[in-house]
Amino acid sequence: MNDDIKKQFEEYKKLVEKKLDEFIPIQYPEKIWESMRYSVLAGGKRLRPILTLETCKVLSGSYEKAIPTACAIEMLHSQSLIHDDLPCMDNDDYRRGKLTNHKVFGESTAVLAGDALLSFAPQIIIQKTKCGENEVKYETLLKVLEEFTVAAGAEKLIAGQVVDIDSEGKQISKETLKFIHENKTGALFKLSVRAGAILAETDEEKLNAVTKYAEKIGLAFQIMDDILDVTSTLEELGKTPGKDEKEGKVTYISFYGLEESKKQVSSLCTEACDILEKHGIKSDILKAVANSIKERVN
Ligand code: IPE
Ligand code: IPE
Ligand code: MG
Ligand code: MG
Ligand code: MG
Repeated sequence: MNDDIKKQFEEYKKLVEKKLDEFIPIQYPEKIWESMRYSVLAGGKRLRPILTLETCKVLSGSYEKAIPTACAIEMLHSQSLIHDDLPCMDNDDYRRGKLTNHKVFGESTAVLAGDALLSFAPQIIIQKTKCGENEVKYETLLKVLEEFTVAAGAEKLIAGQVVDIDSEGKQISKETLKFIHENKTGALFKLSVRAGAILAETDEEKLNAVTKYAEKIGLAFQIMDDILDVTSTLEELGKTPGKDEKEGKVTYISFYGLEESKKQVSSLCTEACDILEKHGIKSDILKAVANSIKERVN
């Protein structure tokens, strides 16, 4: 990633963090808001909101109208991590280099903080997106909310998580493994770019193109997550490595081995960039996101 793109990345990240801080004020009962803020403001790469902002910008020339939605998607992502780390799920003690939410606030508050974020996120989309004649159309906002609620629910993210948990210690087909990855992780990548494209009021062709791009990078991202669980350290990852084997997870590594998994990540990232090229979507940031997946260390 060259210095110019790194700088643009950092600017987006700073903006997202500033807005998240602003959108989640501490109020009564403080405990729940502190718990929500603890996880949402704990750092992280902020890839999903960056995808939303950049997709909206490249397709319409401006990203401002996508800020509430981008932040809401990061809240949804944080919710999925809080619940994913619970003892009844993956039972993890570290996340983003800090103790997991339930380790700090206790299990009941962690469950409630996840629930709260899940409903607070669409609330932010509704309350903070400027709607009107020269702003975002109400019809457009409704489409974004539909994308959001479908991606977060039992047809997508939850479907992936259920089959992931259900498959622990079992032999599953490669189709099932792909289903898990495309849903538990791919769904939010798809939501991120589609929401940006919808807010940009783009045409069907471009919407389909960014959707295909996101399908590729979403799958690549989760395969890389499986790889890093085997090859990385707690310091680099900010979460405990070696957990997939310990929990009996079926991953791309357990199915295809390390080398073949790396090859698949590489091909998916190249294919994602080719899609952008083919449809004349000129975004160095979207390309950099795809290319960074195979090199990422956390
Ligand atoms: C972690 O996502 C969960 C997966 C889908 C593998 P990220 O690796 O994007 O986590 P943060 O937001 O940077 O902490
Ligand atoms: C991530 O799957 C999917 C969601 C959190 C929805 P993992 O369970 O592999 O993610 P990490 O490794 O805990 O970040
Ligand atoms: Mg999991
Ligand atoms: Mg996990
Ligand atoms: Mg993982």
